[in-house]
Formats: sequence, structure tokens, C-alpha cells
Amino acid sequence: MNTRVELPGLNLKNPVMPASGCFGFGREFAQFYDLSHLGAVIMKAATGGKRFGNVTPRVAETSSGMLNAIGLQNPGVEGIIAKEIPFLETYPTPIIANVAGSTVEEYVSVAEKLSETSVSAFELNISCPNVKEGGVQFGTDPFLAENVVREVKDVSDVPVYVKLSPNVADIVSMAEACAKAGADGLSMINTLTGMRIDPKTRRPIIANKTGGLSGPAIKPVAIRMIYQVYEAVDLPIIGMGGIETVDDIIEYLLAGASAVAIGSANFKNPLVCKELIDQLPEGLKKYGFESVNDAIGGAHDETYSSSISRS
Ligand SMILES: Cc1cc2nc3c(=O)[nH]c(=O)nc-3n(C[C@H](O)[C@H](O)[C@H](O)COP(=O)(O)O)c2cc1C
Repeated sequence: MNTRVELPGLNLKNPVMPASGCFGFGREFAQFYDLSHLGAVIMKAATGGKRFGNVTPRVAETSSGMLNAIGLQNPGVEGIIAKEIPFLETYPTPIIANVAGSTVEEYVSVAEKLSETSVSAFELNISCPNVKEGGVQFGTDPFLAENVVREVKDVSDVPVYVKLSPNVADIVSMAEACAKAGADGLSMINTLTGMRIDPKTRRPIIANKTGGLSGPAIKPVAIRMIYQVYEAVDLPIIGMGGIETVDDIIEYLLAGASAVAIGSANFKNPLVCKELIDQLPEGLKKYGFESVNDAIGGAHDETYSSSISRS
């Protein structure tokens, strides 16, 4: 079974990677399995300076996922370049750097620094709902999104995947704005803004009050958005949101994703990425696919789907 996928800057031996912020920089997971198995690694967000993140509590469970408001905690781009990238470079696995900032200048400066390293691609995080300044506006206003993508493209040749926020009325116009600015791909989706309240204290459970909802609850939203964007914009998509099984991965491929990222599921089962990579060939075969490429966008091809037995 051919599980290879070629995307701008990414020659993936399989389409499975851990999602940003749910895998740190891989060190803890490397104690469980060899990171060479992964299609790629998407690092935790990099910002200009160190960030300690929001005050705790900053995660809460929900019935079908979790809420988080970590607030982009990270050692800063210099720390990541000095300590984390050299560790990940010991594996023959492409590294995708998640780039964040509060201002256009910060995005540009982080991207410039990272473009001097071995990272294969950027995932431009214009969609973090959990920081007070910056993040959210870039991800919900097509003009701001277009501008930040263009500025980053101007300073670096590293392919740029833009991570879209689902917290918008019209996901297609956001994707179109990124395409217009020269994005090489899209990554979707980030978390949906949510909230939980503790009946005992009558207060929000998360100190930040609101957080980002991830996990199985958001999968149908992600599938819908990827399906819509695939029809409207000619850019490869890395899909994510609630993936826990091989059937979930196949659903994403059919909607139009060329690769997938697995986030919250890593907290339940640290081996999940490796297990799904191992199960993927058999899972594809079960539905009659001969390769990963064979499944990408399959749900858009009506002649194709009607030729398959529904029994
Ligand atoms: C604890 C936590 C931290 C996250 N941190 C980041 C981050 O730093 N940058 C980013 O782009 N997305 C971040 N995300 C979003 C995930 O990468 C992913 O888009 C989202 O969780 C949906 O996937 P999932 O349902 O498989 O978790 C974070 C998610 C969680 C749960």
C-alpha cells in the first residue's frame, strides 16, 4: 500500500502527523516510540520571546473533547532553534514549525529566524483563540490574514501552510484570502471557542474564562469546512479535529485533506499516531483504496462514489 504524499516542501512517507501544541517538541513522546514513524512533526507554536502562557486552570474536559487556553506557552524562537530543532533533527522526519505572533512584525521575525533552520514548512498560526492580543483578529479578518501571509512569504522561501480558525462565518473567504497572498497550503482547523462553568463555584472552569474546544466534538465542523474549501480553493489541506481512528483519517482524506494531524487524542493515548500509521494501509484497503492519493477528495467525485457498492 502506497501511503506516500507529496506536498509543497513535504515529502511524506505517510500522511499522519501530531498537531501543534499536542506533542510539545516530541521529547516526551520519543520515550514511547521512534519518531521516525511519523509523516512529519508539527512543533508547538513559536513566538518571538518566551511565553509562560495563561494562568491555570487552563484545560477542562468536555463530554467529547477538551477545552484549552494554554496561551502559546513556548521557549521563544531562539530557544526552539537552540534546543528543540536539534533534537527533532536526529529523526529523518520533516519538521513543520508553527509560527505565531501578536503583530505582523513578530510573525515575520519568527519566520525569518526559522527559515535559517532545517524546517520543511511553516504552519502560520493565525487562529489561536487564547491570546489577548493579535492571534484571533488575524484569523477572522481576511484582509489581515492576507497581509500577514504576504509579509511572511516575502521574507522566506519556506512553504507556508496557513492554519485557519473555525471561528468565522465564512471559511471559504478566509481560505481565498490566504491563496491570494501566496499561501502554499492550508491547515484546518484550529479549536472552536467554548466555555464551561462549574455549578459549585458558579465560575468558568478555565481561568481565561473561554478556551478552545478540540476533540471528537469538532470533527463534523472540520469535515464540513474542509469539504467547502476543497471545492473553492486549489491548495493542499492538512486536516485536523477529533481524529482518533483510521476511519476518521479516511473521512478527512475523502473530504479533501491530503494529510492529517492528530491533536487531543495524543493526551488519551500517547501511541495514537504510531498506531494509526500502522493501521492505515489495512484501513485504506478495506474501503478499496490502493493508495492515500486515491482517497484524497473522493467525496467530491460523484461518479466515483456511485461506482462503489454501498452494501
Ligand atoms: C492543549 C492544546 C494546545 C494547542 N496548541 C496549539 C498551538 O500552539 N498552535 C496551534 O496552531 N494549535 C494549537 N492547538 C490546536 C491543535 O493543533 C488542533 O488544531 C486542534 O486541537 C484540533 O485537533 P484535535 O481535535 O485533534 O485536538 C492546541 C490544541 C490543544 C488541545
